[in-house]
Amino acid sequence: MDIIKQLNWRYATKKFDATKKITDQQLDTLKQAFNLTATSYGLQTIAMVVVENKTKREQLVPHSYNQNQVLDASHLLVICIQEHVDATDVKKYYSNIKQIRNTPDHILKPYQEGLIAMLDKKTQAECQQWSKNQAYIALGNLMTVCANIQVDACPMEGFVPEKYDDILGLTKLGLKSVLLLPVGIRAEDDLFATLKKVRKPITETVIEI
Ligand SMILES: Cc1cc2nc3c(=O)[nH]c(=O)nc-3n(C[C@H](O)[C@H](O)[C@H](O)COP(=O)(O)O)c2cc1C
Repeated sequence: MDIIKQLNWRYATKKFDATKKITDQQLDTLKQAFNLTATSYGLQTIAMVVVENKTKREQLVPHSYNQNQVLDASHLLVICIQEHVDATDVKKYYSNIKQIRNTPDHILKPYQEGLIAMLDKKTQAECQQWSKNQAYIALGNLMTVCANIQVDACPMEGFVPEKYDDILGLTKLGLKSVLLLPVGIRAEDDLFATLKKVRKPITETVIEI
């Protein structure tokens, strides 16, 4: 399938087949795709929580405006941001670069100091907004990969993050949920699967100068 066919195949799945699971290999591809997502400076202040447990997911449905995708999907991916971002994250990042690439300290030091100074100027609320921007990039990346490997998915903002954080124990991990991506196999009777895509004419959204 070419990429445009794949992107037309994907749609925001409203009804998953609750009896079907994605394969371990597909799930592993999604985990790797999340981790390979580009982030600002490469700092990766986001995390993905994979929820398969049905009892937990049943509890989440009322806090998802009763959208049953969170329960019926094969797995529920919860994209989170770190509650706090500070110099410790930057130091960990640069020590990772040093270890992986064997880059000498004198080259890394100015970049590390510059990034710490930049973060020092931001409030935690600004850092959280910055991390949220990265979360949306991860969501888009995952959706495209899902289309590529024929996994159905529904991007979702419609949930109550504080309730998710509580039920999934995210607060004690220093995380805040920001986006959901239930993934699985579409139900045969999902009416949305056969609806035509509604998009503006491409000449309105793509401007050539
Ligand atoms: C950030 C974001 C949040 C969304 N939240 C929801 C949601 O909570 N529930 C839902 O059913 N669809 C949700 N959608 C799906 C959109 O309504 C859908 O992608 C859009 O109408 C285009 O349709 P298509 O994805 O089927 O092409 C969301 C999409 C995005 C990108």
